[in-house]
Amino acid sequence: MKIAIINGPNLNLLGKREPGVYGSQDFGSYLEALRISFPEVEFSYFQSNVEGELINEIQRVGFSVKGIVLNPAGYTHTSVAIGDAIAAIQAPVVEVHISNVHAREEFRHISHVSAKAAGTICGLGLKGYELAIRFLSGL
Ligand code: DQA
Repeated sequence: MKIAIINGPNLNLLGKREPGVYGSQDFGSYLEALRISFPEVEFSYFQSNVEGELINEIQRVGFSVKGIVLNPAGYTHTSVAIGDAIAAIQAPVVEVHISNVHAREEFRHISHVSAKAAGTICGLGLKGYELAIRFLSGL
């Protein structure tokens, strides 16, 4: 079973970036642990700081995987085009945010993704990715 994980801008700096908000674990080591926890899942992983590259990847995997775990990061709050890409594909998308965006600045309360996603998980740290995978895979 194939699940795609797609991370948006600045998430390549997880572990170093504002650890008080995003924690001190880098995504590479978390992904290794996910692969061990879910041996039945074939994960693809993509991270980009570029909006169009994220859209290309959503389109690339969107008709072949069981589901997509997407953290659009800052583009959540600005990108109509990422919302449109989610609406355009077949695979269900779970929107994940590490921090509780609703407890932060007002501009983070807006999402162009949530209405197109199957659901949203926020504020549960990296655990949110695992919960999204459980939902999408039925495991
Ligand atoms: C984030 C929340 C966004 O508001 C922020 O721009 C990010 C990360 C999160 O995972 O908590 O880059 O998506």
